[in-house]
Amino acid sequence: MFIVHTVSELRQLLQLAHRQKKTIGLVPTMGALHAGHLSLVQACKTQCALTVTSIFVNPTQFNNPEDLRNYPRTLKDDSILLQTHGVDILFAPGEKEIYPEPDTRSFDFGALERVMEGKFRPGHFNGVAQVVSRLFTIVQPDYAFFGEKDFQQLAIIRALVTQLDEQPVIVGCPVVRENDGLAMSSRNRLLSETQRKQAPLIAATLMQAKEKVPALPVEEMKKWVAATINAHSELEVEYIEIADEKNLQPIKQWDNAIHARLFAAVYARPVRLIDNIRLS
Ligand code: PAJ
Repeated sequence: MFIVHTVSELRQLLQLAHRQKKTIGLVPTMGALHAGHLSLVQACKTQCALTVTSIFVNPTQFNNPEDLRNYPRTLKDDSILLQTHGVDILFAPGEKEIYPEPDTRSFDFGALERVMEGKFRPGHFNGVAQVVSRLFTIVQPDYAFFGEKDFQQLAIIRALVTQLDEQPVIVGCPVVRENDGLAMSSRNRLLSETQRKQAPLIAATLMQAKEKVPALPVEEMKKWVAATINAHSELEVEYIEIADEKNLQPIKQWDNAIHARLFAAVYARPVRLIDNIRLS
C-alpha cells in the first residue's frame, strides 16, 4: 500500500491508473477506522481495480469546535488496518493540501439540507460537500463509496454529483453494527463505560419501533421512541424523525409512506450519535 500526504504525490500515482483506464474507487473517511469503514473498502475492492482511501478530519464540516478537537486521530493503526484489507493507496493529506485557500463555496441542496442533520448541524453538509467535491476533483474516481449510517449525507452526495462535472457512481453500503446492535462509529470510542452500556438502547428502540408499524401512528411513534431512549440517564434525544428515503421529507401518516425510514440523533454528552433503520 502506498501512503501519500500530498496531492501531487497522489496524482503521480494515479496517472498511470487513469492512462490504463483502470477503474478507480474512492472511500472517503475521517479515520479512526472500524468495520463499518472496512465494509466500504471491501465493496470498493470487489468493484474497482484500484482502491483509494482518504483519511482527513475535515474542519469545515464540524459545527462544534469541541467535537473537532476531540475527534479521534489514529493514523498509524488505521494504515495497518487498510494495508491488511488490501487498499492500494492511502491518501492522508494535511489541511493545506485540501484547502490551499479557504473554501468559500456555498452549496444549495434545497429541502434535503433543511431537515435532520442539516437543520441541527448548520453548515455541516456544506463542509461535507466542500471536502468531497475536492476529493473527487483530486482523485477523479469512477466509483465512490458511502455508508447508510450517514443516510442523509449519502443523499446529499448523490445530489452533489448531479451538480458537479466529476460524476463518480455513488455506491451506498448498509449500516454495520456491533454485536449488541450499536451502529459502529468512530465516536463510540469516546463513550464512557456507562454510556457505552446504554448506547445499544438506541438501535434496540428503533428495531422495536419497526414492529409497531402501522399500528402506532407516525407522530406517536416518534414520541414513543424519544421517551424510550430518554428514559436512560446517559442518553438525550436531539431529534427523532420518520422520513421518506428518497427526498428525506418528514412523513405524517403510514398511508402514503412507501419507503419510510426512522432516524435518530442522540447525545451521550458530549458525544453525539446517529442511527437509522428502514421501516417499510
Ligand atoms: P466518517 O464518519 O469517517 O465515515 C466515512 C464513511 O464510512 C461514511 O460514508 C460513513 O457513512 C461510513 N460509515 C461510518 N460508520 C459506518 C457504519 N457503521 N456502517 C457503514 N458505514 C459506515 O462520513 C464521513 O467520515 C465524512 O463526512 C466524509 C464523507 C469522509 C467527508 O469528510
